[in-house]
Amino acid sequence: MTRKVAVLGSTGSIGTQALEIIHANPELELHSLLCNSNLDLLLRQRVQYAPSVTAIASPGGECPDGIITGQEILHKAIDGADMVLNAIVGSAGLQASLICRDRGITLALANKESLVVGGSLLRDHIRCGGIIPVDSEHSTIFRCLNLETHPVRSITLTASGGSARDIPVEKLQTAGVDDILNHPTWDMGARITVDSATMVNKAFEVIEARWLFEGLQIDVVLHPQSIVHSLVRLADGSWKALMGKPDMKIPLQYALQYPNRELGLISDDCPLDWGTLEFSELDGRRYPAFDMVVRAGQDGKSWPAAANAADEVAVAAFLDRRISFGDIAIVIEEVLTGHEALEISDFQTVMRADRDSRIQAERIVRKLC
Ligand SMILES: NC(=O)c1ccc[n+]([C@@H]2O[C@H](COP(=O)([O-])OP(=O)(O)OC[C@H]3O[C@@H](n4cnc5c(N)ncnc54)[C@H](OP(=O)(O)O)[C@@H]3O)[C@@H](O)[C@H]2O)c1
Repeated sequence: MTRKVAVLGSTGSIGTQALEIIHANPELELHSLLCNSNLDLLLRQRVQYAPSVTAIASPGGECPDGIITGQEILHKAIDGADMVLNAIVGSAGLQASLICRDRGITLALANKESLVVGGSLLRDHIRCGGIIPVDSEHSTIFRCLNLETHPVRSITLTASGGSARDIPVEKLQTAGVDDILNHPTWDMGARITVDSATMVNKAFEVIEARWLFEGLQIDVVLHPQSIVHSLVRLADGSWKALMGKPDMKIPLQYALQYPNRELGLISDDCPLDWGTLEFSELDGRRYPAFDMVVRAGQDGKSWPAAANAADEVAVAAFLDRRISFGDIAIVIEEVLTGHEALEISDFQTVMRADRDSRIQAERIVRKLC
């Protein structure tokens, strides 16, 4: 029997790669496509992959025949699917994850913001095995822990250091958009590329890992080559890792087929291709936002939602060339300083913290412009 997959965020970096995996795999069937506003690409995907449902959140005008939009599109895109790939960017992805939770549908989760802003709301779905991580670090840890019978001491997330890692610290404040979008090892969407440069992405991954692998100590180490995709340390001090040239199709295929063990060959690199592997500590001066966001995650409640909202607004303003690269950390810091935390009891509370923090972040951006 084939598995019907809903691809939410189909026009993005993760979404387009997922469509290639689904197309190449006879056990997978595309159920639906959903994007925000990229109608041209959505229409081409519809012709190429022939899903049952094609949906767009913000069409910016009349919707062509056969494309749906409006309030209920998430439900319509998810109804009838056996698995949902959530590859929407930002906190906009949380609602789709919650629909999967409510319906008991397995979620292949690329949208880390779902766990950053609403981890407590998804805890039961994680505990019953309803979430398969797609982020390469978490996919690695998930695979290393899968069928492991020995006790685990800790997990270590690797970080490439992003495009800012080789820019002199004194020049970081004014680093340009083109320099920052030029990631050394991964080809990704604009927001996550900027978040990799500030290391906010890694802080989000720490929060994500805390929910996915509850109770385990989490460390982060800089690894510029992105060959070791994260590590698990066992009780006897030995280390397990998944290694290879960076390619998101590997975690995508694993998640979309999980728990099927017959994985197709994606990459045929070998250790001789990898060169020297280096590991070092994060330099806090280079990545001032990292500790702030990790701390927001530790403080819980609506702190991480506020950090995410501040970051979304700040990154968009940086990409629009309204603020400088160094200002992103300032916006996050000021939003967190003024934030009055709420207990997260439901989706509405998350959205309230999200909305209030965005308003606050916009004010700070206007002041910095
Ligand atoms: N890219 C990677 O290698 C990578 C690796 C690990 C994790 N992730 C995570 O995966 C997620 C997606 O990343 P990405 O790099 O693929 O981002 P991206 O290239 O910017 O794509 C984002 C996708 O989300 C859609 N979208 C945005 N807002 C939406 C909304 N309100 N409703 C429906 N669809 C919406 C976009 O549609 P439009 O095109 O119409 O705007 C697009 O299809 C992020 O959470 C990211 O952190 C990405």
